[in-house]
Amino acid sequence: MDVKRIGINEVKSGMLVAYDVLNDSGQLLFPAGARLTEKAITRMRFHAIPFIRIYIENPADAVDDGVDEQSFFEKLRDTEEFKEFNEKFTDVAATFEEEMRRVLREGGDTDSTSLSNGVKKILGSCRSGIQVFDLLHCSRTYDEVVFAHSLNVAIISAVLGGWLHFSAEDIDTLIVCGIYHDIGKLVIPKEIIDKPGPLTPEEFDVIKTHTTKGYAILNKMNLDRRVKLAALMHHERSDGSGYPFGVTGDRVDDLTKVIAIADVYEAMTAPRKYRKARCPFEAVRMFESSGLALYDTSFLMTFLEHITMCYMGYRVKLNDGTIGTIVYMNKQDDTRPMIRVGSDYINLFRNPELYIEEIL
Ligand SMILES: [Fe+2]
Repeated sequence: MDVKRIGINEVKSGMLVAYDVLNDSGQLLFPAGARLTEKAITRMRFHAIPFIRIYIENPADAVDDGVDEQSFFEKLRDTEEFKEFNEKFTDVAATFEEEMRRVLREGGDTDSTSLSNGVKKILGSCRSGIQVFDLLHCSRTYDEVVFAHSLNVAIISAVLGGWLHFSAEDIDTLIVCGIYHDIGKLVIPKEIIDKPGPLTPEEFDVIKTHTTKGYAILNKMNLDRRVKLAALMHHERSDGSGYPFGVTGDRVDDLTKVIAIADVYEAMTAPRKYRKARCPFEAVRMFESSGLALYDTSFLMTFLEHITMCYMGYRVKLNDGTIGTIVYMNKQDDTRPMIRVGSDYINLFRNPELYIEEIL
């Protein structure tokens, strides 16, 4: 019988396990040759086992697009390129955290030039804007969420600034905007920031103050005015539904508008303690269904077009479990490309019940 590797979310009780399942410390969780039970699956989830290998008893289970032993992201994580990226990222994040904690304790300034040079070095280790998103997808291991999120937003904003043909000086400022945009969160109680799950209306009111508190912190520092404005206004929305002032898009600086898009995209696609990372296609779908009136339309369209193009040629899993490769982007709807599955093609634009659930 053939063996297939499957993710823990796809395993079902009754499947025949092909290899012993061990936890991190080598303890046997489930023996090869036995059939899975619900209890065993729960135990594997508890031990964060990402995938197991099963025997293929039903030939339909074997149909796929030539699945490799390792997924694209697992392979990328093993490359020197990723290790270098991750090392630089962790270095810059640690310096950033140290400096900000000092400023909050003792006052003074942070060295924004050296931090933004750090971000540029991280970007410099990537071959293209497209690859940055893959490397970011794999990293996200830095413990302190505010610092990792801020650096990710700085990186994504710089790439989007490039796609929008901003000047080099504006992209430099954009990076600094990204670094400091959420700095007010450092003075919000940690229990609220790290709360796993939805916030109460009162807690959300407290969270909202990170914009004005961030502005107050940055206002004492020697920074470009647009950096301070980005901290203050990155939650304003084009239709006036945002905070803290509820002003419409015409009152918001362009750099802040870029930060707003990068911020929401990062928050949607990054893993959180209470939910796993969302697939970029799901994030794009969410933007398209509710975001067009909330963000600068031309900035957002440029962003979404480029993001979806990033995944051309990638292997993806659809919501019905089909695995295939993206071979063509539909002009009418870039979240619904054409997928090749073996020698067949599925046009997602013509199959509204199907959507991309995961990039493999
Ligand atoms: Fe924020």
